[in-house]
Amino acid sequence: MSAPTGASAQWLARSLKAVWHPCTQMKAHETLPLVPIERGEGAWLFDFDGRRYLDAVSSWWVNLFGHANPRINAAVADQLGRLEHAMLAGFTHEPVVELSERLAALAPPGLGHAFYGSDGASATEIALKMSFHYWSNRGKPEKRGYLSLEGGYHGETLGALAVTDIAIFSETYAPLLARHARMPSPDARNARGSRTPADVAHAAADALEAHLAAHHATIAALIVEPLVQGASGMVMYDAGYLSRARALCTRYGVHLVADEIMTGFGRTGTMFACEQAGIAPDFLCLSKGITGGYLPLSCVLSTDDVFEAFYADDVRRAFLHSHSYTGNALACRAALAVLDIFAADDVIAANRAKSLRWRDIGAPLARHSRVRDYRTCGMIHAFEVATDRPDFARAFFAAALERELLLRPIGRTVYFMPPYIVTDDEFALLVERTAALLDAE
Ligand SMILES: Cc1ncc(COP(=O)(O)O)c(C=O)c1O
Repeated sequence: MSAPTGASAQWLARSLKAVWHPCTQMKAHETLPLVPIERGEGAWLFDFDGRRYLDAVSSWWVNLFGHANPRINAAVADQLGRLEHAMLAGFTHEPVVELSERLAALAPPGLGHAFYGSDGASATEIALKMSFHYWSNRGKPEKRGYLSLEGGYHGETLGALAVTDIAIFSETYAPLLARHARMPSPDARNARGSRTPADVAHAAADALEAHLAAHHATIAALIVEPLVQGASGMVMYDAGYLSRARALCTRYGVHLVADEIMTGFGRTGTMFACEQAGIAPDFLCLSKGITGGYLPLSCVLSTDDVFEAFYADDVRRAFLHSHSYTGNALACRAALAVLDIFAADDVIAANRAKSLRWRDIGAPLARHSRVRDYRTCGMIHAFEVATDRPDFARAFFAAALERELLLRPIGRTVYFMPPYIVTDDEFALLVERTAALLDAE
């Protein structure tokens, strides 16, 4: 990409000096420039030199209704004039109460107790700690193992990383991480020949069953990303796995934690991915899209049974976990504005029709000679690129910027996860320019 000039160049230099950027080898920026962003509008981000980028990854999967959305802006601005934040221990406020009630009403049945954190990883930590503490309060402290799936991703803090199976993120810290068993992923790409995605899901569930039969006495919870394992490359799988996992967890007295941090809020075509399997987990972890990409907020919804295990005279039976910004009023108000948009615009139904149109628009790309395993789930499209380049992800990212696209491949997997307000024309542009990038590579 051509070197930034003017204001862009200045922000870039100052950022490199003062800001340690996430998930980045900072030295890489010697050759791959940062992109300083001045403003956002709809699905587009604009730099200081007037260049624009279609945010095809919703800024790390958080943005649902575009940047600088007037409706969310208005709600946050209104909240700013009333209350920005009040500690949630010993106090409560309107946005957090309303949000908790509305999330419980939208979520699969029985999840009426909302505990808040800030980022996704803090939600994972909360669910894992709560599950262990539940069993301890119920007189089973030996239940302290967690099962997770191969290729699963649940965040980067030490507890979350211990149930994450992506080597580049976890192997350096392996000596610090508790060791937990991993179960086979029901990855639908393993359905070849006469083997269907449902067959793959059942085989993976059989392995889970065998493990639970032998070890359930020491296992607190199974944590899964329902329907799509995002960070390991948009691995999609059959809903039958979730139905079996739910039944097995119930049978063997193990909690099911649904990490819908990425899949929640309509990303897979239903409000929550669990709905497609007709199941309710014991813990539902939410974050990312919850505020439409505005403010950090996460939430763990849990059941009456879980809540009651902590309800006692003894303070040590209580869940004493806390974060300073728990239930931040501005973030909750942004989340309420997001839920208002879902309701007013009937977003789930509109997205259902849109995702069918996007499948048609994506069809030529799916047939591209370098594309493998093109797959979709709701508002997510993903495929692997046939390439020998070890630096494919980085090179493709840089080349995409040249064509006004913000695409961030995971290894050889290219995916589209744009804000829902992307128009069919914008999606067509995304598809056409991606095909052109593949032609040029
Ligand atoms: C499924 C899942 N869980 C947890 C996380 C961690 O969320 P955060 O980055 O906000 O800590 C992510 C982030 O990508 C995620 O996709």
